[in-house]
Amino acid sequence: MSDKPRRVIIDTDTAGDDTQALLLAVTSERLDIEGVTICAGNVEFEYMVENAKYTLELAGIADDVTVYEGAREPLVKTHEFASYVHGEGGLGGDLFPDTGLPSGDIHGADYIVERARENPGELTLVCIAPLTNVALALRKEPNLNELLDEVWVMGGNANCLGNVTPAAEFNFWVDPDAAKIVLRELDVMLFDWGVTVRDTAFDAETLADFADRSETELSAFFTEISDSVRAFNNEAHGEDMTTQPDAGLVAGLIEPSLIERTGTYHADVDEREGLTRGYLSVDEDDVTGGDARTTVIESFDNERFRRMFEDMLFENAPEISL
Ligand code: RIB
Ligand code: CA
Repeated sequence: MSDKPRRVIIDTDTAGDDTQALLLAVTSERLDIEGVTICAGNVEFEYMVENAKYTLELAGIADDVTVYEGAREPLVKTHEFASYVHGEGGLGGDLFPDTGLPSGDIHGADYIVERARENPGELTLVCIAPLTNVALALRKEPNLNELLDEVWVMGGNANCLGNVTPAAEFNFWVDPDAAKIVLRELDVMLFDWGVTVRDTAFDAETLADFADRSETELSAFFTEISDSVRAFNNEAHGEDMTTQPDAGLVAGLIEPSLIERTGTYHADVDEREGLTRGYLSVDEDDVTGGDARTTVIESFDNERFRRMFEDMLFENAPEISL
């Protein structure tokens, strides 16, 4: 691995799990965050902008990293939120930050394009939201794939159940038109809902252990934002646990050896309304003969991921136990 930190732009719909991904990225010495862009997703747009700024402030880097406001709605579909999972404001019950910090002066998609053009081959795009900003960036700059170093995406459900409908995962379901464009135009490293459930969940025992240890600012924040997700998982799935989709993706970027198995396949998204809206087709047996350019993370080291997360919460340094 190169000693130089990887330079990243993080595209987020900042609710609870996005905040933990941001904190992992910010506290890791292996990543350098150039900027954060906000995309329509989990909750009302203004809440997500403030949640991102608040998270950066908590990590002490709000003056160094700017938040750029991007797409306020999906390309075509009517927008629906996930407040039922993350609470109205996205950070659980009562936390509605009002930082007063300014946003960047250009649209998030323009920021992605500008930075990619100015730094060809240097930047990794980390996508933990619906893919509207990325699709808009592609519209302006069709050569984005060549201009970026890598593109990492949390989204879709590769040959398994989704979390919004049986067919679809939230990020792809919210803007399937954008997801389709992105998978067609970019080489993507994909962290899907399947690997999220299999390999990033924290059970009640782990969560109790986090809560029982002597509190840090970051661990108190995690406990606070986790309550609504735990309540939702209890009610919807009968399981007291949290899942860490966005933090899982960032952890893999920080320490690629957490990724135990991948497969590269042709992937496509059903953008039509109806039962299969947002369905991700991953052609594992190559029956379509389509271009294989999506690398799916199929197995992930849950135990080392948990230790990394814990080191982030309690030591401010996710690499300690690696
Ligand atoms: O389905 C999980 C994804 O949808 C996560 O990125 C979560 O933050 C929401 O955006
Ligand atoms: Ca997200």
